[in-house]
Amino acid sequence: MYETERRSRDYYEGRARWYDWANRIAALLRGVSGIRERRKAVRHLGLTPGDRVLEVSVGTGTNLPLIAEHVGPAGRLVGLDISPAMLARCRKKMRGEGLEVDLVEGEAAHLPFADRAFDAVFHHGGIAEFGDRRGAIAEMMRVAKPGAKVVVCDVGVPSDRKLGLTSRLLLKFQPIYDQPPPIDLIPRQAKDVRLSWFHGGAWYMIELVSP
Ligand SMILES: C[S@@+](CC[C@H](N)C(=O)[O-])C[C@H]1O[C@@H](n2cnc3c(N)ncnc32)[C@H](O)[C@@H]1O
Repeated sequence: MYETERRSRDYYEGRARWYDWANRIAALLRGVSGIRERRKAVRHLGLTPGDRVLEVSVGTGTNLPLIAEHVGPAGRLVGLDISPAMLARCRKKMRGEGLEVDLVEGEAAHLPFADRAFDAVFHHGGIAEFGDRRGAIAEMMRVAKPGAKVVVCDVGVPSDRKLGLTSRLLLKFQPIYDQPPPIDLIPRQAKDVRLSWFHGGAWYMIELVSP
């Protein structure tokens, strides 16, 4: 494991209890509904009932019920995360939701899944902190079936427009927002690559279709 990954895991191990609360407060400060923004990203996966979906860096699993709304009871949900504490919270939450999910401890740049195993692959938050972002994107594409959507989202602010006050403050106090969307790290075989912004312009969304 890279030093960056170890640090990130330790950070989330200590933060798991507060993670959902911190997210709610961040959404309030941005003046958006966190769940509505997450739903937007999930819609871009183009899911249909029965699909098998992987969320890389699933965290406490907030997106899983939103994915389940599309794939239904015949679908299969798989979540991977580097932090056992985040996975433990996710397991508890999913029990409360009555959702069956396979949760796997692992690292995004070395996914323990077969090639072309999933109908869609989702990542919502975390990649900006990864030590091997290129490897993680390549892995998401490897495990996606040909024609499957891969959606990668994280914090950031657009560099091609005038920024509002919130974005300027985020840039000043949270250096991670200064990282550009990792478009240049996407393998050239990827099809229909698109970039958009959501969460009030404080997150990017990269969509692509696996070749
Ligand atoms: C910002 S949270 C996002 C959680 C969830 N996807 C969400 O939308 O709320 C980032 C997650 O990435 C996980 N993580 C960090 N580095 C990782 C890595 N290299 N491989 C897999 N997961 C990682 C953390 O443990 C944490 O749960």
